Amino acid sequence: MIRKYTSHSLLPYNTFGIEARANVFIEYDSVDELKQILARQETLPHPFLSVGGGSNLLFVSDYEGTVFHSVIKGMEVVEETDKDVYVRVGAGETWDDFVAYAVSHNWYGAENLSLIPGEVGASAVQNIGAYGVEAKDLIHCVETVEVATGDICCFANADCGFSYRQSVFKTHLKGKYIVTHVIYRLGKDERYNLSYGNLQLELADSSLLDLSTVRNTIIRIRQSKLPDPKKLGNGGSFFMNPVISREQFGLLKEHYPDIPHYDVDTSRVKVPAAWLIDSCGWKGRTCGNAGVHDKQALVLVNRGGATGAEIVALATSIQNSVYEKFGIRILPEVNYIGG
Ligand code: EPU
Repeated sequence: MIRKYTSHSLLPYNTFGIEARANVFIEYDSVDELKQILARQETLPHPFLSVGGGSNLLFVSDYEGTVFHSVIKGMEVVEETDKDVYVRVGAGETWDDFVAYAVSHNWYGAENLSLIPGEVGASAVQNIGAYGVEAKDLIHCVETVEVATGDICCFANADCGFSYRQSVFKTHLKGKYIVTHVIYRLGKDERYNLSYGNLQLELADSSLLDLSTVRNTIIRIRQSKLPDPKKLGNGGSFFMNPVISREQFGLLKEHYPDIPHYDVDTSRVKVPAAWLIDSCGWKGRTCGNAGVHDKQALVLVNRGGATGAEIVALATSIQNSVYEKFGIRILPEVNYIGG
């Protein structure tokens, strides 16, 4: 059923817990319903915005246009080979329910992405990632509806322009397609990605290595570092880890011998934004109702009643101080909406 509301609260649709309203808010349960809505789109206020669980959105003001929320559900195996299984999942499924489903069937590949908040549609838009794995490593194709025409359009993985927290759906095709389903490819043969240092260390104590152990370990690490959005509003990592040249890194290392880094390629390295922010003394600080989490400097939090503008003001101060100290511009991973 199509559900349409006016001046609708967006509080349940953003994990930051920001009180903002959508001029019009529409929820739909199927591709057909989405097509019906788009066929009458001239009656709706523009621009359009699709939201999932809202774990990467920061509403800086009320939304003057129309917010779409998919409640397309379902997880089904659509193809199977000796080695792989292809699972088609509705955009409105909770991401972690899909991970739990994969683990319970003994299918490999999604377990490192346990407990990431949000919904399946957003996993393809944001190319979510953690512990050495990104959604792009699992995505076979992305099914969408084109906003202008209502046509169904499938994007193969190679056409999604995936890179670190990026896809074509966030960049040059932004707002042009609405994700309805994602088909993931999971492996049947036992394999784990334990490249992330902390993970290997945490698993060292377990006598048994299996999918549930990996999933439970990731859940434990995440819960120890990242605040539960239901208790303390936040958008996960607020900034992306910046990529800088080896030359710039070499100069920084002379001044800051402890600076951590991950290799990107022969000429570039990634530096943890959390370390840069922490080194500027921001961890645990509070500015009005906004603050920096005391266990992970990369996470900005709503200490209660914060406005989007307050969070942006804090983020801007952090960006400025990181630039002044290290000459590195850090960019938000969270998408600012409105303002
Ligand atoms: N560090 C500090 N201070 C802190 C936290 C971390 O100095 O307060 C340093 C540590 O040296 C640590 C390094 O920063 O070794 C990296 O920190 P961490 O291992 O916690 O990972 P991250 O780079 O901060 C990224 C993702 C997370 C993902 C984790 C685990 C980004 C922007 N963030 O965080 O993703 O869960 O790795 O793989 O890439 C998210 O996108 O919302 C998210 C949580």
